Amino acid sequence: MGGLINDLEKFLKIAEINEGGRIALKELTAKFPRSVMDDLLGKLEKLGCILKKKGLYLYIEHIPEVFRYRFLDLVGSSLFKRIYVFREVGSTNDMAYDICKHEGDDFILVAASQTAGRGRQGRVWYSPEGGLWFTLAVKRSTLGGFGTAALNMALALCAAKSIEKVCPRVRISIKWPNDIMIGNKKTGGILIEDRRSIKHLICGIGINTGVSRFPKKLNAVSVNREAKGCKADNVRILKQFIRNFEKMLRDRTVTESMRSEWSRRSVMKGRIVTVRRGVRTASGRLSGFSPDGGMLLRTSRGAIEKVLSGEVISYE
Ligand code: BTN
Repeated sequence: MGGLINDLEKFLKIAEINEGGRIALKELTAKFPRSVMDDLLGKLEKLGCILKKKGLYLYIEHIPEVFRYRFLDLVGSSLFKRIYVFREVGSTNDMAYDICKHEGDDFILVAASQTAGRGRQGRVWYSPEGGLWFTLAVKRSTLGGFGTAALNMALALCAAKSIEKVCPRVRISIKWPNDIMIGNKKTGGILIEDRRSIKHLICGIGINTGVSRFPKKLNAVSVNREAKGCKADNVRILKQFIRNFEKMLRDRTVTESMRSEWSRRSVMKGRIVTVRRGVRTASGRLSGFSPDGGMLLRTSRGAIEKVLSGEVISYE
């Protein structure tokens, strides 16, 4: 069994690099004896891979997403040692939390769909197959100077850059504290959970990449719909996300350029924003962001008020 799994992994690594392309049969027979190879190809087809032998080549037409996720570590992540991949979970955040109880390293957990996806304020997060639903479990010691508010914005920025890298015709903006937007519709969100009993911070990220229909009451849009012909490939977006996240953590703190990107991408820039914070509200014109991820609101009296948490009720 171990031999078969190793062979499958070896083959899929080659195939992952070549998806949409071809591998010379000569290259494969140098790595696998003929009998093993035929057996492997049969098994892979049963698992949903589409592979076609033509002439001297094997054409890799399709590899299911759940397999492709497993090879993200090929990008040589310096931070994440493991990626857990599931077809379906309740919530990736809950699953990651359970794993954290006996996992010392930083890791990623991704699922093709969630049956109990959660959003902020206890809201349900609609997460059918097609979207990108994942959790980064990151030790507090890894996070350096990033507190929760800054991390929310930093993760939203990583998501924005990753989506645009894969789909260059899409413009992503950010709505403080955690919304990933296309125009005035939501295309993703961040849910950071700080459970004191574990060493990690649980950072859940949901992006509506390929979700084609949403329940009516949601003001949501999928990336694919706005991508003008380009496919918002989940695996490529996640790869980019990991790169961006690692680059950001290398700075150990929120840089000046991150703050100006938060402002540049903010849907509320220059607007009068009203935020509910428990029983009171704060209101003022959005004039920028503080290094700890707070909104800086210029009140009607000309003072600057920093808001680190709360719910935006309106911006006009
Ligand atoms: C929000 O905007 O309200 C936050 C949405 C966060 C959704 C993601 S999907 C992956 C992770 N698992 C969850 O249950 N929620 C987050």
